[in-house]
Amino acid sequence: IFMMKRHFSEENMVYDDEQKGLNKQIVISFSHVVAENTPKGLAAQKFAELVDEKTNGRVKVEVFSNGSLYSDEEEIDALMRGDVQMIAPSFSKVTELIPEWQVLDLPFIFEDYHDVERVFTGEVGKQLLAMLEKKGIKGLAFWSNGFKQMTSNRYLLIEPKDFKGLRFRIMPSKVIEDQFRLLGTEPIVVSFNHVYQSLEKQEFDGQENTISNIYSKGFYQFHPYITVSNHGYLGYVVLMNGKFWESLPIDVRKQIVAALEETTLWNLKQSKLQNEQQLIEMKNNSNIQIYELTDKERKEWKEKFAPLYKEFEKKFGRKLLQRIQNDRG
Ligand code: LMR
Repeated sequence: IFMMKRHFSEENMVYDDEQKGLNKQIVISFSHVVAENTPKGLAAQKFAELVDEKTNGRVKVEVFSNGSLYSDEEEIDALMRGDVQMIAPSFSKVTELIPEWQVLDLPFIFEDYHDVERVFTGEVGKQLLAMLEKKGIKGLAFWSNGFKQMTSNRYLLIEPKDFKGLRFRIMPSKVIEDQFRLLGTEPIVVSFNHVYQSLEKQEFDGQENTISNIYSKGFYQFHPYITVSNHGYLGYVVLMNGKFWESLPIDVRKQIVAALEETTLWNLKQSKLQNEQQLIEMKNNSNIQIYELTDKERKEWKEKFAPLYKEFEKKFGRKLLQRIQNDRG
């Protein structure tokens, strides 16, 4: 009976909408800061196409890339004000709003893409999205950009001691700041929109990012020493303004969720592939020096970063961290 009732009321909703003339085109502005040819850029584009297909053109998703609408410093506020309907910030940028999200920035919290998939499709994923609701934000999906690597303009960073005394550009996340302080570097938060210029001006000796961001934005031109460390994970959460989401007809919400499910599955594979391919391209560029950490060196990094886990537990308790560690398998 419940199912029938639900079905009935949903039908009504559509009918009501049509009566009110609300079935005219719905436009969703989706703003992001990276290049088009990146895991996030391509996923946003694919999502827009799928929404168009699934809603027969009733919903149009307009994608604004490269921070052309809002920078990463502005986009969460713009979303909360309702000036833009969708964004997909990196987890680090959500930590300013929800400090517990720092758990996702702990180095080596995810070992590989399997860990990522298991954690975000499980209960922890739901729990993380639910935290956004109190802020008037609808969390819809998790997209991936894969793992972060270290770049430098000086030399290859292989052992923890190699970092000492360097200046690093970071994203705004306390755990990331602490990670670099542990290494004896000076971490400075810089908006993604300004990273290229600041590297060009030699303002930083190092930064961490995924291969696809290093490649698509040309950071390697100024930081040609790249250490493949896979020490941190760069993921995105796809967000919609909460009130806007509530205002959408139920059938449209379902079509959006279906489009996102399809995009998310595709994105996980695509991000892995794109980072692998672009790493090969950079390896073929004789101006770039690439070093892959050995297992022994990774272990050394892990040991160095162990205090960050203790610090996190002290601040936020063990629950969320333990859940992630359990889900990872
Ligand atoms: C960064 O600021 O380095 C990244 O978060 C950019 C992005 O969205 O991938």
